[in-house]
Amino acid sequence: MSAENERIKVELEGVPETLLWNLYNRAEEARRPGSRLLDDPRAVELVDRIDYPFERFGAASMAQWHALRIRCLDDEVRRFLAERPGGTVVALGEGLETQFWRVDDGRVRWLSVDLPETVEVRRTLLPDDPPRRRSLACSALDLRWMDEVGDGVASRDVMVTAQGLLMYLPEAEAKGLIAACAERFPGGRFLFDALPRAMVARNQAGALGSSDGRYRAPRWEWGMDVTEYRKVAAASPRITEVRSLRFPRGRGLYALAPLSHRIPGLRSLRMSIIAVRFGGDPGSAE
Ligand SMILES: C[S@@+](CC[C@H](N)C(=O)[O-])C[C@H]1O[C@@H](n2cnc3c(N)ncnc32)[C@H](O)[C@@H]1O
Repeated sequence: MSAENERIKVELEGVPETLLWNLYNRAEEARRPGSRLLDDPRAVELVDRIDYPFERFGAASMAQWHALRIRCLDDEVRRFLAERPGGTVVALGEGLETQFWRVDDGRVRWLSVDLPETVEVRRTLLPDDPPRRRSLACSALDLRWMDEVGDGVASRDVMVTAQGLLMYLPEAEAKGLIAACAERFPGGRFLFDALPRAMVARNQAGALGSSDGRYRAPRWEWGMDVTEYRKVAAASPRITEVRSLRFPRGRGLYALAPLSHRIPGLRSLRMSIIAVRFGGDPGSAE
């Protein structure tokens, strides 16, 4: 990473590089004049500050879809914070997400956990601001991050998010991670997104990338269809509730998004956003 004319060169590869794809899509929607689904001035600012050939992601045709996904995830985090003011969000694989600024209620504590090369980029562009906003260089699969959640934080006040992460993990590892969170954070929550099986199969066959072929997503390992969300409960006997969230309404054809889980044909193309609650004695997370 180097700074040139105040623009910061970001060189990432493989899965970490995908954070720039998501960032670009958010910024493109947030830049839209007139009606837009997302306000995210920080994403716009980041794209303008980063020296990276964003054009290789092709036209941001996915921007609206990403915005609907983000609106759905943000709304669930806001619901959590409304129920647990001053709660702690642990954002696994957060990349350059700017969700903290979109949902901040002035009290939330935020721990961003990502791979070392990504955290280096995040700390440069979005410096930590402890005690409310911290980042940790640690794989989500290295459960030592759990020890960093905070002294005396009650586990029912913890929401773990994994946005754009679990599709890169084999199914057993993804479900093992959810189960480990259920063990460690009784009364807590887990929020994640999952890609449909057909899309994962197309990615694995090498058939998914930007329209002009200049960017190809890394291999996705795990997918599940929107109809399968209840199966997530099998990951741990401590899971007491699994909800598949409804998308908000978008523009044009995306006006159908709130019904997309019901429409045959669309259903198999639709990503799932899943909110999980853990039962058990919600004592301290320490
Ligand atoms: C598709 S990006 C998602 C970024 C962000 N959550 C978003 O939605 O814009 C995937 C992210 O997962 C991170 N990642 C990949 N493997 C990881 C792991 N084992 N532990 C933690 N983060 C990981 C990458 O560094 C990257 O930031």
